[in-house]
Amino acid sequence: MTAINITDWNTWYGDFQVLNNINSEFKDKSITAIVGPSGCGKTTLLRSLNRTAELTDNFRYEGSILVYGHNIYADKAEDARRHIGLVYQTPVALPLSIQENVLFGPRYYGERKRDRLTAIVENCLTQAALWDEVKDKLNKPAFELSGGQKQRLSIARALAVNPQLLLLDEPCSSLDPLSTGLIEELLVKLAMNLPIIIVTHNLFQARRIANETVFMLNGKIIEKDLTQTMFNNPSNEATRSFFSGAIG
Ligand SMILES: Nc1ncnc2c1ncn2[C@@H]1O[C@H](COP(=O)(O)OP(=O)(O)OP(=O)(O)O)[C@@H](O)[C@H]1O
Ligand SMILES: [Mg+2]
Repeated sequence: MTAINITDWNTWYGDFQVLNNINSEFKDKSITAIVGPSGCGKTTLLRSLNRTAELTDNFRYEGSILVYGHNIYADKAEDARRHIGLVYQTPVALPLSIQENVLFGPRYYGERKRDRLTAIVENCLTQAALWDEVKDKLNKPAFELSGGQKQRLSIARALAVNPQLLLLDEPCSSLDPLSTGLIEELLVKLAMNLPIIIVTHNLFQARRIANETVFMLNGKIIEKDLTQTMFNNPSNEATRSFFSGAIG
């Protein structure tokens, strides 16, 4: 099943066109990796998908993005953002306790029931493979966690609002191999329930966890296919060069 349909999507920062005629579909319950050289528009595409790109003053767009058939640009931006989690490259621990980091979204959106809040904390930290490490110190400041733990906390925070999609922008680039492995394992599990799009500079990571891979260059999608096909037998010459290390 298709989770996301992007049609004739073009974006600009001022006069500079960043994304150029993007037409693509992303599958439900599946991990899609987006790869491509620095500056090709990967982050802008993710920020288009959760409607944060328009927080940049001179951002302009044309085209449509449907999530489960619904045009997210027909909604108020805040409503669209609520259902689409984005995890950033640098792990973000808000200056709050571990528990309040997870509850930031639910509280913001008005959840007050104590039982509900307690359940969200345990459920999301468990899904983010962090519960066992933090269950005895939920009220400690989140900044005391390691980088890898903070990144799993960021994922727990994103899950706490029950997102329709989970987007991650180079989530492992500052992490050691052990933490990276934990996050990859957890993404594979989460993808049993929702679509995940991950931007990565690590081609091995795409190969390990992504069902499909998208190769972008200069604001365009050059090729998108099953990950295995992209790596073993890309149909485009530019993709071939990128995967063999000639560009990027
Ligand atoms: N706020 C902004 N204002 C103006 N130009 C921007 C802005 N954000 C990004 N750009 C430009 O848009 C282009 C695409 O940027 P984007 O961040 O989407 O690339 P990227 O593929 O994520 O790169 P990287 O791999 O380095 O993270 C770049 O040329 C960048 O300089
Ligand atoms: Mg980027």
